[in-house]
Amino acid sequence: MLSQTLIMFAGLAVIALVAVQAMLFVVGSVSRLSREKKAQALSLQLLQERIDAARASRAKVEQAVSSWNGWRKFQVFKRAPEPGDVCSFYLRPHDGKPLPAFRPGQYLTFQLNIPGKDKPVIRCYSLSDAPRQDYFRVSIKRCPAPRDKPGIAPGLCSNFFHDSVKEGDILDVKAPGGHFFIDMEATTPVVLIAGGIGITPVLSMLNALAQDGTLKRQVHFFLGVRSSNDHPMKAHLEELKRLHDKLDLHVCYSEPAKDDAKDRDFRHGERVSIDLFKRVLPSNNFDFYLCGPPPMMESIVAGLEAWGVPDEKVHFEAFGPASIKKVKKDEPPAGPASAGPSVSALEVVFAKSAKTCTWTPTLGTLLELAEKNGVTLDFGCRAGNCGTCITAIKEGDVHYSTPPGAAPEKGSCLTCVAVPSTRLVLDA
Ligand SMILES: Cc1cc2nc3c(=O)[nH]c(=O)nc-3n(C[C@H](O)[C@H](O)[C@H](O)COP(=O)(O)OP(=O)(O)OC[C@H]3O[C@@H](n4cnc5c(N)ncnc54)[C@H](O)[C@@H]3O)c2cc1C
Ligand code: FES
Repeated sequence: MLSQTLIMFAGLAVIALVAVQAMLFVVGSVSRLSREKKAQALSLQLLQERIDAARASRAKVEQAVSSWNGWRKFQVFKRAPEPGDVCSFYLRPHDGKPLPAFRPGQYLTFQLNIPGKDKPVIRCYSLSDAPRQDYFRVSIKRCPAPRDKPGIAPGLCSNFFHDSVKEGDILDVKAPGGHFFIDMEATTPVVLIAGGIGITPVLSMLNALAQDGTLKRQVHFFLGVRSSNDHPMKAHLEELKRLHDKLDLHVCYSEPAKDDAKDRDFRHGERVSIDLFKRVLPSNNFDFYLCGPPPMMESIVAGLEAWGVPDEKVHFEAFGPASIKKVKKDEPPAGPASAGPSVSALEVVFAKSAKTCTWTPTLGTLLELAEKNGVTLDFGCRAGNCGTCITAIKEGDVHYSTPPGAAPEKGSCLTCVAVPSTRLVLDA
């Protein structure tokens, strides 16, 4: 009897031992499997990161290889008129080599030989389509004479493009440049805002986001024009809207024409404004990209700030003299760094023009100071990239409110982004 009980206990002990071992084996296997799974996921993630990094560096190399220094010849192979005195020009590189992948929002710099002008004239035009390897597109609006000065000649280059640049013509073009571009890696919803011809860089952004057939981000697109008579790319925008649910298109007509119909030609019979954003956007939590005429830009940039949109989420470009000073709240206005905040006025002498002016921080850059005082300086991009406004410094020094794309030679400055930091004598 005792031996039977002992045998039973011994049997139970063996079973328990086997069960514990089996359990330990299972637990060990499960945790080993889970460790292996984690390690596998980690190496997959690492592999993906390596692939992304390789892709990014290949894109950089490709861009560097297909980009160029100085002027490159391009042939105009197509002209396409648009409403509102706008014409699109399609350009192919004359050397037939591929084009660099520019960043949507950037612009081209043109050097034009205009009959009657003693030297080439430089102007910048934003790329108005998504990056492609075969051609660039710019869309140019005729610039009339100012309304209050009808005696003055209308805009030189825009009218030259419209009246004289034909299909087959060859133009000198600098590689795409500029700091106003969309982050193509971001996936968060975005607001794109255009006024009139300011549509060009933001349309390039929209087309790039929709390039693969699926809109990569939710886009709220606002376009402000007077009426259908000034509505560029109307059919294209409507087609994009039809194709992409993620595109929320807000076309605003401030003065609809007699035959313009709400909800067919336009969505809002008003200007693009902060009030409109507050009514139709779910929140202010977006990146805002904006290009338009100075009054619209001024009111919207100030309004976005008042609405609590952080400075780093508001991106804009001015086509003409930059009239918006983006000054961060706790930052003194762009001014003479080395001279210190106590300096409020500095003398600037334009030696060749025999003009002596007083610069104060509110007067802006040296180019703006010159223009306000009737001194003519050459300019192109007005953003420190094209080098057209380079001017020799005879005495004194400057400070850059926006860092120039390429540092100018010693003893000279880029007047479009420079402000004086001491008394200054310029060879202009
Ligand atoms: C980064 C950037 C991107 C741009 N992208 C585009 C774009 O995509 N599409 C586009 O259409 N434009 C664009 N522009 C604007 C473009 O570069 C030109 O500024 C525009 O075409 C006008 O140039 P213009 O030579 O025709 O006129 P300008 O000859 O420069 O004249 C401009 C205005 O000044 C007037 N004017 C001329 N002389 C005087 C004077 N002595 N006194 C008073 N007024 C005078 C002219 O009548 C005209 O109204 C862009 C500008 C920049 C900086
Ligand atoms: S105008 Fe282009 S760098 Fe100044």
